[in-house]
Amino acid sequence: MRYAYVNGRYLPHKDAAVHIEDRGYQFADGVYEVVTVKDGKLVDKQAHMDRLDRSLKELEIAWPVARPVMEMIMGEMIRRNGLRDGLVYMQVTRGVAPRNHAFPTGAVRPALVMTTKKMNFAKMTKFTDGVSVITAPDMRWTRRDIKTISLLPNCLNKQKATEAGCYEAWQVDPKDGTITEGTASNAWIINDKGELMTRPATHRILNGVTRLTILKIAEQEGVPFVERAFSVEEAKRAKEAFVSSATSFVTPVVEIDGQPIGDGKVGPVCKKLLAGYNEYAAGLRTEGAVWSDDIPADEAEADRAA
Ligand code: PDD
Repeated sequence: MRYAYVNGRYLPHKDAAVHIEDRGYQFADGVYEVVTVKDGKLVDKQAHMDRLDRSLKELEIAWPVARPVMEMIMGEMIRRNGLRDGLVYMQVTRGVAPRNHAFPTGAVRPALVMTTKKMNFAKMTKFTDGVSVITAPDMRWTRRDIKTISLLPNCLNKQKATEAGCYEAWQVDPKDGTITEGTASNAWIINDKGELMTRPATHRILNGVTRLTILKIAEQEGVPFVERAFSVEEAKRAKEAFVSSATSFVTPVVEIDGQPIGDGKVGPVCKKLLAGYNEYAAGLRTEGAVWSDDIPADEAEADRAA
């Protein structure tokens, strides 16, 4: 049987449900994490838990259970569902209360839901063949650093990508034409100087845990990198490109808006970083993501602080 965890109980997945007045359902008032499971082990568990802690703090939602208990439930879900490769999804909402935009007063318990999903990473052709992406205007709010379940703009752009036969939509800041990130992944290029580029972590993107691990791997591999925003034009001129997320690892991008990137094939830097990431996920390398709560609002604030 497939299990889901709902507020203290392990239930058959098909019967698992929450109350209709859960604030997650009515207001998207909640946060989530997706953690990869490889060979039965959680990848970057600590960094994901640290990011969850920050998301909860930013929205003034209490931990639904103590952190060690959360980790215990994750382990139990993996065990009950016989998960070797795939992901654990966890969602915390502010809880159930009569509909009112302001936070409920009194003792409302945050709600915790957890599911798992089996995935066959070894069989995924995206890693070897690469994927195509489109660009689309970024329509989101100004606190994209918080991993909230409020994902409608992301869903709309992902749908556009799907209809175009593409894997992702790279979202573009309408003000300056720079790429922020994908709808469920971070965006990367290898520029004409051979430098790895990705947007710095500010309120304008979600700081990916995979992103942090890849920066560590780049360092180990001697791949030079700069954290800077890049434009659509720069991306289209790039030698290589890729997306990263808990379930995309390093997924090479070989086409943007129908235009081939480099020679249109998966390039050497992508291969090197993916190989490094796979070793890390398999426990053959140890140095990965270290989360930091300190995230500036924008690039200008980061520059002032530096
Ligand atoms: N998405 N940016 C956005 C907007 C994301 O939703 C995600 C992850 C990332 C990458 O973060 P990480 O490397 O920590 O997975 C970046 C998850 C996988 C999802 O929504 O399913």
